Amino acid sequence: MHQGLGQLLGSSPALESVRAQVRRIAQLDATVLIEGETGTGKEVAARSVHYLGSRRDRPFVPVNCGALADALVESELFGHERGAFTDAKSSSFGLVSEARDGTLFLDEVDALSLKAQAALLRFLQDGSYRRVGGTGQRRSEARVIVASNANLQALAEARLFRQDLLYRINVLTVRLPPLRERGDDALELAQHFLRRLSAHHHRPAVRFSPGTLQHIRTSAWPGNVRELENFVQRAFLLSDQDDIEVPGHAPAAHPQGEAPNSLKAAKQRAMAELEGDFVRRLLAQSQGNISQAARLAGQDRSAFRRLVKRCGIAPAPGCEPKPTDAP
Ligand SMILES: Nc1ncnc2c1ncn2[C@@H]1O[C@H](COP(=O)(O)OP(=O)(O)O)[C@@H](O)[C@H]1O
Ligand SMILES: [Mg+2]
Repeated sequence: MHQGLGQLLGSSPALESVRAQVRRIAQLDATVLIEGETGTGKEVAARSVHYLGSRRDRPFVPVNCGALADALVESELFGHERGAFTDAKSSSFGLVSEARDGTLFLDEVDALSLKAQAALLRFLQDGSYRRVGGTGQRRSEARVIVASNANLQALAEARLFRQDLLYRINVLTVRLPPLRERGDDALELAQHFLRRLSAHHHRPAVRFSPGTLQHIRTSAWPGNVRELENFVQRAFLLSDQDDIEVPGHAPAAHPQGEAPNSLKAAKQRAMAELEGDFVRRLLAQSQGNISQAARLAGQDRSAFRRLVKRCGIAPAPGCEPKPTDAP
């Protein structure tokens, strides 16, 4: 299995430094915090820490905290006894137990409610936990890696993230820089994704057109490597010639040809970041309930839902109001 540093490609000094940090951290055994915008490679980095370290033959269990319904977070993580709540027809072990003495990767940790944060803090303090509805103390030897695309210090100052939990997880920190701060890495990565696609589809002669190379170089890539990967895939699939052209229209958030360092691009990025933080904060306050968050924002629900979508935030399943709740 090649899940080590080979997956974290890029020759920029910024990424070279990330690889050096990951190598060092893999040899240590403390909790790790990985920060970075969406699509910067946080999960790739987490897997690298795991597969380069002494736990490489143990389980790696990724958990997307943003996708867990708040009421179920604790039972998903720690398991529950039969009958602990109405739907608990049988007992469950939970993800902590599944990770055994491997690595538990808590992605989007900023999405946890304050109550779930308290449970996580208790667990991180000494590795002990209880199943929901159970009495026995259990112990876990799992290593915990957490990731966040929100700035946890800022959230802590806004009292949306527990400061004591932040101290506890902020022992070893890796920050994944956005793609726009990695020089020519975008080009290098795009060529890598294209080579992989052309090998897979037996089209060895495909190349990016000069216009496409220019687009790759100058785009701000707010969705970072994930967006670039999707772009290359779409361009590849939509072109039936060997010269790959930019397909369709670039999203409005970063008009085609907009220089990444222009004032306009900088304003758009700042606005996107502000909107993202704003929406996440409201969703945290409303425990993921869109209608309630929309009311807090003074917007109607459909406008607010469009904003959520534009920010690339997926509301937790089960938090959408039923059609009968509609005004
Ligand atoms: N440095 C990199 N080299 C190659 N692929 C990368 C790199 N960083 C990210 N990717 C790819 O980009 C996508 C998003 O990465 P991911 O780790 O899920 O980002 P995040 O967790 O920060 O949102 C994945 O398909 C991943 O394989
Ligand atoms: Mg991720």
